[in-house]
Amino acid sequence: MKIAYYFILILFCWSCSSDASDGDATTPTDDDAMTVTNPLLDFTVPSNFPDATYSIAQNPPTEKGFELGKKLFYDGQLASDGVVSCGFCHIQSFSFTHHTHITSHGVDGQIGTRNAQPLHNLAFMNEFTWDGAATFLDTQPIIPITAEVEMNETVSNVLSKLSADDDYPTLFAEAFGSEGVSADRMFKALSQFMVMMVSANSKYDKWERGEAVTFTDQEHAGRAVFNTKCASCHAGTLQTDQSYRNNGLPIDPVYNDIGRERVTGLSTDNRKFKVPSLRNIEITFPYMHDGRLGTLEDVLDFYTDGMVDSPTLDDQFRRPDGTFGLDISPEEKVQLIAFLKTLTDNDFIEDRRFAEF
Ligand code: HEC
Ligand code: HEC
Repeated sequence: MKIAYYFILILFCWSCSSDASDGDATTPTDDDAMTVTNPLLDFTVPSNFPDATYSIAQNPPTEKGFELGKKLFYDGQLASDGVVSCGFCHIQSFSFTHHTHITSHGVDGQIGTRNAQPLHNLAFMNEFTWDGAATFLDTQPIIPITAEVEMNETVSNVLSKLSADDDYPTLFAEAFGSEGVSADRMFKALSQFMVMMVSANSKYDKWERGEAVTFTDQEHAGRAVFNTKCASCHAGTLQTDQSYRNNGLPIDPVYNDIGRERVTGLSTDNRKFKVPSLRNIEITFPYMHDGRLGTLEDVLDFYTDGMVDSPTLDDQFRRPDGTFGLDISPEEKVQLIAFLKTLTDNDFIEDRRFAEF
């Protein structure tokens, strides 16, 4: 899918209206009118990807909308302390996760209960967060903005700050073609920035698309093991079937996170979490919803020896003899990790379009 045409916006020179409020009575004339071009950005679905779930037609990313979304993403004004921006917890070099803390740290150093998720390929996801509490990307940011342990702010306060800012009113007008700082526009701009975060240039992608890369023997062997033991859940190109499952993590005595049950209220969803995409998994440690596992070796050791039973444990982990876990030999573990590293997309984490500076 390729969209490439141009919006031409005619805007009045905003400095004139602020001059007016400073007591200068000049009214805008035709000479003050400026033409702002706001080209649509090229949102292309990679040829090895499924269709986007996000409705690009309803909120097509534009150059100005994207730039506004990026500024908002890296702006501490969205938090009550003026410091904790989205980018504070979602750091590009780690595929927009946070490393220094196992679970996220927000305003006043308050500790959240969950591990910050990577932000990539969000345009292809049905639901968001570890338990699927957000069903629409545009409304997801309400959660971090208002969560006490994250940005601890209200949307209306954020809008007041942005409206009083020197730059935002102009940037909103340029992005959306008319004056007005609103919640709807703020969330649309954040989405425009986030849907452009397509990560599709790993070695694995190139191999899938038949480009000139070769897998080593170990990577090939790892892919075969992955297909038999992991791909039923970490499925397809996106590396997730987007379902919620209990993979047998021992209950965490501190947070006792009930997972998907929090959203549906169903005991059958107890301790189920969204199957995470394994794209860029090499750099998004620590692992699992609460970041309890530090390395990929730890993850594989957990799958073979660390699982605990519970009523909602996924049936795929139940062995005929009544025990549970996956059977993976030490050699296969090495192969699996070699394969998982083919999912790292360095072009994405180094892409200057998404960088703060
Ligand atoms: C204090 C750290 C923190 C801040 C600040 C933060 N996030 Fe997050 N983000 C998280 C955590 C933790 C999760 C997982 C939440 C959960 O599962 O309940 C998450 C999840 C997400 C997701 C869902 C990803 C997915 O794959 O489902 C999106 C999108 C997101 N954040 C965007 C944002 C945006 C936009 C902002 C700024 C408005 C923001 N975040 C601010 C920590 C943070
Ligand atoms: C029955 C479904 C299922 C199977 C099979 C499965 N996983 Fe998972 N995997 C999950 C779920 C669900 C989670 C998230 C659990 C949580 O955080 O509570 C997860 C988490 C992970 C994580 C952590 C990801 C992150 O972002 O923190 C890794 C790595 C992982 N799995 C690798 C594998 C590998 C490798 C295999 C095969 C050996 C495998 N999984 C098999 C369902 C599955």
